[in-house]
Amino acid sequence: MRATPKYVVIDPTAGKIDRRIFSEQAIYDDEMAKIFGQAWLMIGHESLVPAVDDFFHTYMGEDPVILTRDGQGRLHALLNMCRHRGNRVCRVDDGNAKRFMCTYHGWTYRNDGALEHVPGESEAYYDALDKPSLGLIEAHVETYAGIVFATWAKDAPSLEAYLGDARWYLDTVFNRRDGGMQALGPMKWLEPVNWKTMVDNCSDNYHVPTSHLSSARVQSRYLGRPRLSHEDQFASPNKHAFVNGHSITFRDADDNAPRYMHGVSKDTMRLFQEYHDATMPEIERRLGTLRARRVQLANHSIFPNGILGLRLALPRGPLKTEFWHFVLVDRDMPEELKRVIRIGSQANNGAAGMFEQDDVDNWRQVTEASTSRLGRRHPQDLSMGIGHAGLHPDYPGFISDRYISENNQRLFYRRWEDFMNAESWATIPLDPVEARFDGTATMRSPWSPPP
Ligand code: FES
Ligand SMILES: [Fe+2]
Repeated sequence: MRATPKYVVIDPTAGKIDRRIFSEQAIYDDEMAKIFGQAWLMIGHESLVPAVDDFFHTYMGEDPVILTRDGQGRLHALLNMCRHRGNRVCRVDDGNAKRFMCTYHGWTYRNDGALEHVPGESEAYYDALDKPSLGLIEAHVETYAGIVFATWAKDAPSLEAYLGDARWYLDTVFNRRDGGMQALGPMKWLEPVNWKTMVDNCSDNYHVPTSHLSSARVQSRYLGRPRLSHEDQFASPNKHAFVNGHSITFRDADDNAPRYMHGVSKDTMRLFQEYHDATMPEIERRLGTLRARRVQLANHSIFPNGILGLRLALPRGPLKTEFWHFVLVDRDMPEELKRVIRIGSQANNGAAGMFEQDDVDNWRQVTEASTSRLGRRHPQDLSMGIGHAGLHPDYPGFISDRYISENNQRLFYRRWEDFMNAESWATIPLDPVEARFDGTATMRSPWSPPP
């Protein structure tokens, strides 16, 4: 007989969820082990370490990690902890270095993690130190279209299987050009929120007309974007897909119209249209006609903590999150367009972004409510659209009947339970990969070292 799982926090038939998951330290501690210790985590982009011996300092959950490219061009994710007593061996955000020296006693590591030099190895240690076993702790690294993922789990499935059919959609933004993408940033800030409130929000399409009303009005007035009507929002033909806890909103785009991204306005539309027209043959070759011309990815999350592209919700305790905001642009895009997208992205979702400020206030209040002794006796209601999702003849994944629903939240927290109740990957389910990936695009990017 199977034991009762430790975490049953969502009732999928009623859509009620236990608020304690947003504030309890013991649950948070389990998240660090079971989710951030087992899942594939986005940690950076290959363009942040383009040359041999480049490094970029990042995090896996709360653990400091150095993303390095060694002398052979191979990537490594190394726990930034000296194996002697534990000091950090790297204290800067990025750079180029063949070695990292701990400033406590001088143990020195190569950028592939191997312990190379120990002061007084003969005299102090009598040549008895087992150096090969004392390299920096290394995570397993794989990349998707230049985005670097890492996992501590030795039994994790391939990144390709982990992303599964979500990649069918993600490719339409992250895998368009032969030259790959380039990461700008990050901009970093702290928020008084539980990390999950951000993730479950990022394809909460329901909040947009209310929370972002004033921001949307500004967009209409100054950028020339069409005003959203009630019908646009609630009877939207846009779609919402779910794979392995990843959530993807997308729409059937107009053929020959540039896909919407931050920076598009009446003044810049011509630039986007020209770029769209000039690159479409290449994109069609890489993604096939349907995905190149008709599928437009919108808000999405990559389980557990990736939000709208390469933007990371890094947990810092149950009530605090460090947010990292990168902007990804096609590397071979005209500089003018890169600038427009960078500024547009910051203006919407940077630390002072119009939309971000609306959102942070919501997440803070949701988090705070979960600390109330009375409030937490009453679950969150995530019942919207229960029973209205299933398979679709044209699109991979589990598809919501409507663009607006809480399938997103329910499925995210179900996936959260999958991880929180698992001692290993042996009991974490994966959706089968069934999509047809037309075109030449693969997991690899031009930044990747030869296999
Ligand atoms: S703690 Fe690093 S050398 Fe001692
Ligand atoms: Fe929002």
